[in-house]
Amino acid sequence: ISTLRVVISINIIISASTHSSSVKGKERSLTLPAEAKSSLFVLVDTKAVLLCPPDNSTAFLVIWTISPRDQPPCTRAHRRDNNETSERNCTDERISWESRPDQNPALQIDPVAITHDGCYRCEVAAADGLFGHTYYLRVLVPPKVTLFRGSDGTIVCRAAAGKPSAQIFWTPEGDCHTEEEPLGNGTVTVESKCRWEGRQVSNVSCSVSHVTGNKNLNFTLNQGVITLEFPASDLLIILYVKFSLFLVILVTVGFIYFKKANDCRISL
Ligand SMILES: *[C@@H]1O[C@H](CO)[C@@H](O)[C@H](O)[C@H]1NC(C)=O
Ligand SMILES: *[C@@H]1O[C@H](CO)[C@@H](O)[C@H](O)[C@H]1NC(C)=O
Ligand SMILES: *[C@@H]1O[C@H](CO)[C@@H](O)[C@H](O)[C@H]1NC(C)=O
Ligand SMILES: *[C@@H]1O[C@H](CO)[C@@H](O)[C@H](O)[C@H]1NC(C)=O
Ligand SMILES: *[C@@H]1O[C@H](CO)[C@@H](O)[C@H](O)[C@H]1NC(C)=O
Ligand SMILES: *[C@@H]1O[C@H](CO)[C@@H](O)[C@H](O)[C@H]1NC(C)=O
Repeated sequence: ISTLRVVISINIIISASTHSSSVKGKERSLTLPAEAKSSLFVLVDTKAVLLCPPDNSTAFLVIWTISPRDQPPCTRAHRRDNNETSERNCTDERISWESRPDQNPALQIDPVAITHDGCYRCEVAAADGLFGHTYYLRVLVPPKVTLFRGSDGTIVCRAAAGKPSAQIFWTPEGDCHTEEEPLGNGTVTVESKCRWEGRQVSNVSCSVSHVTGNKNLNFTLNQGVITLEFPASDLLIILYVKFSLFLVILVTVGFIYFKKANDCRISL
């Protein structure tokens, strides 16, 4: 990279001197390099355009240094004087010039993937100075939100594979247990399990808060219907006990009736 930088710097100096010599008075207006930084948040699977901010009509050299996290950096450059476009180590076909670099030095990423998180630096040599703009790109992934009854009877609100991780809030607040599970590709699944035991709560609402947008889901608890509070096996036992009691009563009543009938017969 350093050798490339040296070559580029020499180019800039040569170009600058030729440029300024051809335009009298411009030499004095050469200023110190200007630096800018910005954070850029982009949605996964969309198209992102990174502008190279200074007025491009006077830029005679534009260099993009593309450094996605966990990948070797690549550079794309365009020289206006000889209309030469070059690239080094650029293998990702989703990253390219937005249109024609001789007209517009903007870079485009289409479509944005989770691996495009990283640093994108644009350097411009123009008649009135050198400019650098660094973008810190962060890819956002909206989580998939679901609300359901778990196998253990808790109500589960899940925000799956979001980036960054989502936050879960309940209305009304319950007896909750929340866990975060990183999925390895930068996304995180957040799951919150709640109970509202011993309280008069019929409807609960799960709110998922995320930079890509918030989501609300409601769930109606089937309280008041007593049978749902017993597992099937318990219900069977209750039925069995009731049925047995019924049988005992029936036999007793029958026995008494039979005895009475016998008594009658005897008395007759
Ligand atoms: C290009 O990539 C190779 C490894 O993939 C690395 O060794 C080299 O330094 C890179 N060159 C530049 C200019 O980034
Ligand atoms: C760059 O130049 C092109 C054509 O010369 C023009 O259409 C475009 O608006 C310019 N972009 C900026 C950022 O000045
Ligand atoms: C620069 O080169 C490209 C092709 O490499 C060409 O399409 C374009 O017209 C050229 N621009 C100028 C201003 O010569
Ligand atoms: C991240 O990984 C999880 C689990 O493998 C997967 O379900 C999800 O779709 C991935 N997300 C992206 C944006 O690649
Ligand atoms: C619970 O929600 C149902 C519909 O989902 C609604 O009919 C009922 O009135 C709600 N109950 C309360 C206490 O908000
Ligand atoms: C969920 O319930 C809240 C009040 O508890 C209500 O404002 C909202 O409209 C409900 N949402 C849906 C999708 O039913």
